[in-house]
Order: sequence, then C-alpha cells, then structure tokens
Amino acid sequence: MDHALRGQKALVTGASSGIGEGIARALAAAGADVVVNYASNPEAAARIVDDLKAGGTQARAIHADVARESEVEAMLAELLGAWGRIDILVSNAGLQRDAAFTEMTLEQWNTVLGVNLTGMFLCARAAARAMIRQGVDPTLSRAAGKIICVSSVHEVIPWAGHVNYAASKGGVKLFMQSIAQELAPHRIRVNSIAPGAIQTAINRTAWETPEALKSLLTLIPYGRIGQPEDIGRTAVWLASDAADYVHGQTIFVDGGMTLYPGFARGG
Ligand code: BGC
Repeated sequence: MDHALRGQKALVTGASSGIGEGIARALAAAGADVVVNYASNPEAAARIVDDLKAGGTQARAIHADVARESEVEAMLAELLGAWGRIDILVSNAGLQRDAAFTEMTLEQWNTVLGVNLTGMFLCARAAARAMIRQGVDPTLSRAAGKIICVSSVHEVIPWAGHVNYAASKGGVKLFMQSIAQELAPHRIRVNSIAPGAIQTAINRTAWETPEALKSLLTLIPYGRIGQPEDIGRTAVWLASDAADYVHGQTIFVDGGMTLYPGFARGG
C-alpha cells in the first residue's frame, strides 16, 4: 500500500468492529494517524489502537456516543487538542434495531435515527467547523478536509422490516449531497460509501448458516459476500488526492446488489 494519506489526521466513528475497524486499519496502512471512536467496547478499541501503533501510526481510542452532542464535541476537542487538525472524517457509526413496521417502537426508531443520521450530523458539523478553520495545507492534501459518510445500499433499496434503518440511510443520501453543496467553497470534499452485504456482526444471521448465505448470494450478482477491507480500500481512495475531483457522490461497493438481480432472468 502506498502512503497516500501520510501525515493526515483521521477520525473513524464506530471503529471498534466491523466496517469501521476495516476503514481505520486501511487509513492507517495508507499513512494516516487515526482516532478509533467507540461507543461500548473499550477493549476492542484498545486492541485496534495497539495494532495501529505497532504499524507505526499515531492512534488513540476515544469514547463517544455519536448521538450525543456533548460527547461528540468533547471527542473533537480531544482530537484537536492532541493533533491540531482533522483531515479526514469517516462517519461510520451505525446500527440496526429491526422490527415489523407495525411492531416498531418509538425507541427502536429513535435509536436508529439518532446514531445513523443525527450522529452523522453532529460529527460532520464538528469536523467541518475545524476543517474550515484550518484551511488547505498543500503539504498534506489538495482539500481542506474530506468527509466520508458510510451509508448503505439501503439509501436506494427499500427494506421491509427495517424501516427505521432504510429511512436513516435515505436521509444520509440527501444529507451528504446537501452538505457537499454547502462545503465545496471551503474545499471540503464530501462523499458517501454505500456498502452492500459486508460480513460483520450487524448481519450475522444473513451469512452464518450455509442456507442463509446461499439465499443472501441470490441478491449479489458478483457471487461473494463483501469484507471490511473492500470498504477500507474505497475509503482510502476517496480520502486521497487521487479522488480530488470526486465530490457529492455515493460510491456503491456492493458486488452489484443495486443492479436489481431479480431482473437477470425476468422482466
Ligand atoms: C445492512 C446489512 C445488510 C446489507 C445489505 C447493510 O446496510 O446493515 O444488515 O446485510 O445492508 O442488505
């Protein structure tokens, strides 16, 4: 891996497992220093930080529930106090609280919207304020900062039984595009990655038995489940100057899940 992100300071939310962990490891391998944000698993975050440090990266774990304004503000203050700037925000923290629509509780709705959408607002706002203040450092990057929202194929694919989740990701789509429009004059690049089925704890039931995996693969034309590294590599590219003219876009990394696979043999 080249060092496209050398010296840049990154924050990855929800980085103690799954896709967030994959992104944190990939950014560090590309030369970035990384804050591993976590909500509930300090041991896992500490293990990842140790690994990153062993690879020569400056890394630190910071606790914050991204749905809480004061915790997000404190996290950014700690990062900026230590490093003085933030070049890359990967707003990844997300969760599911699945239920049939007519059974869904307000708590399930609010929890998902709170982390997946409000959390993205709070983190992106705090990062954008710092990026505007710091401006472009041409020794680091052509942009003053890069914001990457981790969305989902469910920003376009409706998902029965997961209405709160799909609504949050549909929200991420126009959230991202709107702040991309607003932040461009400050040379802050904003994009989304929309993963398909990536093998992590969030969708364990979809891959843990051979039957479940077989059924899942009928939705993935490319014929394999994704891995966190697939998303990590995309995040490195989007954060790097190789993607300097990519702005306001959602990059689907889904093995073709958004290609309406049912139509391969029908219609
Ligand atoms: C969800 C996973 C699901 C995938 C594809 C993701 O956003 O979190 O549970 O497997 O979309 O449906």
